[in-house]
Amino acid sequence: MRVLSGIQPSGNLHIGNYFGMMKPALALQEANEVFLFIADYHALTTVKDADLLRKYVRDVAYDFLACGLDPARTVFYRQSDVPEVHELAWLLSVVCPMGLLERAHSFKDKTARGMDANHALFAYPVLMAADILCVNADIVPVGKDQKQHLEIARDLAGKFNRHTGRDVFKLPDPMIRDEVAVVPGVDGQKMSKSYGNTIEIFGPPKQVRKTIMKVVTDSTPLEEPKDPDTCNVYALYRLFASEAEAAGLAERYRAGGMGYGEAKKALAEKFEAHFEPFREKRAYLEAHPDEVEDVLQAGAARARETIRPVLQAARAAVGLE
Ligand code: ADP
Ligand code: TRP
Repeated sequence: MRVLSGIQPSGNLHIGNYFGMMKPALALQEANEVFLFIADYHALTTVKDADLLRKYVRDVAYDFLACGLDPARTVFYRQSDVPEVHELAWLLSVVCPMGLLERAHSFKDKTARGMDANHALFAYPVLMAADILCVNADIVPVGKDQKQHLEIARDLAGKFNRHTGRDVFKLPDPMIRDEVAVVPGVDGQKMSKSYGNTIEIFGPPKQVRKTIMKVVTDSTPLEEPKDPDTCNVYALYRLFASEAEAAGLAERYRAGGMGYGEAKKALAEKFEAHFEPFREKRAYLEAHPDEVEDVLQAGAARARETIRPVLQAARAAVGLE
């Protein structure tokens, strides 16, 4: 199977990104052909400071490599090193009805929150479809918030194939793991860089612990039984714990006599144990940016090899060659 996913370099990565997208994508490395890219063209819709964008791109590269991306297996690249996606985005734009983009939640949400309604933000799903279709991906691991974008990509693939009467594109399937579909943030809303409610994967350990201690809970007194299924701390703990450990904590919640403070400490310990081994690798990478750049350049060259024949088939189908 061919797998593709991308992530915007628009801030420090958090455990919503990790469990929603990174971990599932990295788990597929062993037995599949995986493409992962840093969506810097997409990030331009929100990051307006050039130095900051450069920093975020580097950070995402360090984060992925530190968390186990193996560049010998996975094709890891920066979107802007593969300009072919723009040509394909144009060919897809031609078959994309306005209504399809007008219905996109992400555009409506972002403009409702006061972001400028520029063309790039509006056309975002077309570029994302091009990212996916240009490698003819079978599976796209993402969190639930990206589901509609995947539907648009499938829709455009189908329309293009029908309009041209050729089977140029495969219809990609989203891979959304139900149990991590939406990771809650410290305030109980969806964890997101833009909500300021994140627990950062590589945040300074002391600060991360403080953030975990701030996760919102209800005010059930310590002695009383608690409901694990409505508790943010439990929802986060479950992501790190084995099934038996999660069941153990759920039982203690229901029995009463355990406070949320104790659950938060257990969560902080799980967090530290999980990410501690990655920190050393990340420090090494940060000290060797040239090695990381080489990985991205090699990845872009491999990605372009895969993309070239797909783009050529699309160009031929519309009469450009
Ligand atoms: P953010 O909302 O923090 O800006 P992105 O939109 O850049 O995150 O998301 C990058 C990837 O991480 C996407 O695949 C997205 O679905 C996933 N993701 C982001 N936040 C969450 C979350 N809270 N729960 C599950 N997956 C998430
Ligand atoms: N839109 C995705 C996000 O905000 C990032 C992205 C861009 C992407 N192109 C993609 C994800 C292609 C998967 C496949 O998270």
